[in-house]
Formats: sequence, structure tokens, C-alpha cells
Amino acid sequence: AIQRTFSIIKPDATKRNLTGKIIAKFEDAGLRIVASKRIHMTREQAEGFYAVHKERPFFGELVDFMISEPVVVQVLEGEDAIAKNREVMGATNPADAAPGTIRKEFALSIGENSVHGSDAPETAAEEIKYFFKDEEIVG
Ligand code: CMP
Repeated sequence: AIQRTFSIIKPDATKRNLTGKIIAKFEDAGLRIVASKRIHMTREQAEGFYAVHKERPFFGELVDFMISEPVVVQVLEGEDAIAKNREVMGATNPADAAPGTIRKEFALSIGENSVHGSDAPETAAEEIKYFFKDEEIVG
């Protein structure tokens, strides 16, 4: 089925001017960019977005990183978009990521791993709503 998923191009990638190369990977996989904006997240925004991880030992580090530089938040649309995006991103830890994936090619570490993508339909819907109004999504 046609799905929408939420994506973040993270600070390590925007800082190294990799936005276009990462978007090309999405588009080459058949994902369409139906919403996109470059933002500098506030601490409150990042803490809210990652609230599910707030008890994890890396939470502080994760939030500091996500607000360290601008990010690009996007909505990607396509056939099985959630799984397809996860395939294109590769494993969370770049050391485990398959050849040709975004994280294999660009990520620096498990924390500075270049992209975020939703893991399920419910989280995709929540994450899209966290950053985009309906009228900002143009399919
Ligand atoms: P993301 O998909 O954005 O969701 C949670 C993030 O936490 C994950 O990507 C990783 O970048 C980050 N993360 C997971 N494990 C660690 C870790 N051990 N140290 C730092 N960051 C981590």
C-alpha cells in the first residue's frame, strides 16, 4: 500500500553538505518528497520528539546532537514507504549497515548516523504531525 513516513536528515549530514546526496537515495528508491523543510530544532522540540528515549543513557547526548546544527525534516511517500525508507537508511549502527545504504556511506557513529526514519505506521503518523501541518504536505 502507499504509505507516508517521516524522515530527518540529521546535523552530522547537513553540516557535511550531504542533504542532496541523501535525498537522491530516497528518490532513487522510489520515495517521493511530499513535504520538506530545513529547521534548527529547539531543545524542547528535540526532547519532545525523542521523549520515548528519555530514560536511556544516551538521551542527553542525543538531544544535544540534534540541536547542534540545522536538520531537514521531510515526509516521504511511496509503496511500503516505512520499510523502504528503513532499507535505504540501513542499520542504526553504521558498522552493521549494508553496502549502498545511507548509513553505510555517510554515518559517522551510532549517534551521528545521518538520518532518522519512522519505524511503524503509528509512529510515522505521530512524527509527521509533530513537525507538519496538513497543508504543508503536498502529494
Ligand atoms: P533515531 O532513529 O533517530 O532514534 C533514536 C536515536 O538514538 C537513534 O536514531 C540513534 O542515533 C540514537 N542512539 C541509539 N543508540 C545510541 C547510543 N548508544 N549512543 C548514542 N545515540 C544512540
